[in-house]
Amino acid sequence: MLIKTLVENTSLTQNFGNEHGLSLYIETNKHKILFDVGASDLFLENAKKMDVNIADVDFLVISHGHYDHGGGLKLFLQENKKAKVYIHKEAFQKHYSLRQAGEMEYIGLDADLKNNSQIIFTSDYYSINKEVFLFSNISLKEPKPKSNKGLFMERNGEIINDCFAHEQNIAIDEGGKTLLITGCAHNGIINIIEHFNALKGYMPSYVIGGFHLSSRSFGNEDFDTIDNIAKYLINTKAKFYTCHCTGIKPYERLKFNMGDSIDYISAGSEIVI
Ligand SMILES: [Fe+2]
Ligand SMILES: [Fe+2]
Repeated sequence: MLIKTLVENTSLTQNFGNEHGLSLYIETNKHKILFDVGASDLFLENAKKMDVNIADVDFLVISHGHYDHGGGLKLFLQENKKAKVYIHKEAFQKHYSLRQAGEMEYIGLDADLKNNSQIIFTSDYYSINKEVFLFSNISLKEPKPKSNKGLFMERNGEIINDCFAHEQNIAIDEGGKTLLITGCAHNGIINIIEHFNALKGYMPSYVIGGFHLSSRSFGNEDFDTIDNIAKYLINTKAKFYTCHCTGIKPYERLKFNMGDSIDYISAGSEIVI
């Protein structure tokens, strides 16, 4: 399996643009998969530089209803007329972030795209094909990240704390290995891995994604929390590649605890697993 990072908060070299967002291209023997499309048209720019033809993508998965993962959706639908786009049925609800200055900023998806015929709405468990499935409605064994603070949704005209029912994860099987990818892990990285384990009866071989250990408005998770997460992750025996909302300082702390079990991926990174 080949994984190319099209969009991330940082870049591998100056040749690649970066932004607060995520987009990963995954190529297996059978499928060309796009997971998230970043915040803007950057995914397409970097895709061209990384020899990825967006028109050839078989299907797109949007992890959750935040602009930094689904902001490039309109452009994707212009570039690719054949791919199905899997989005959780709650993802087009209105989502907001409370900024430090006190104002509520809209951070949801473009609601005008909701009726596009390429979109397929998913719920708790969705099998795309024999090798790939999506799952959400995560059981909460551990509290969700504190860094979700300041994230809200609209329900029945009221603004309430976001429950993150709109967040889904993808699992891809190939050659006896399973790759689990999270978008932001707003439901908690431990909860997501535990949920995967409960569904499948084994741990993933690889985990890639944002682990939500930082918030742009409210700072990072404390070291005790990060150390406990590191302990759990090491025990899974999986290899981790993290990015985006994990945050650089929390990543460095994970790395301090986990050594070679974890690495960081930036826009321009290519990994083969
Ligand atoms: Fe998010
Ligand atoms: Fe995000």
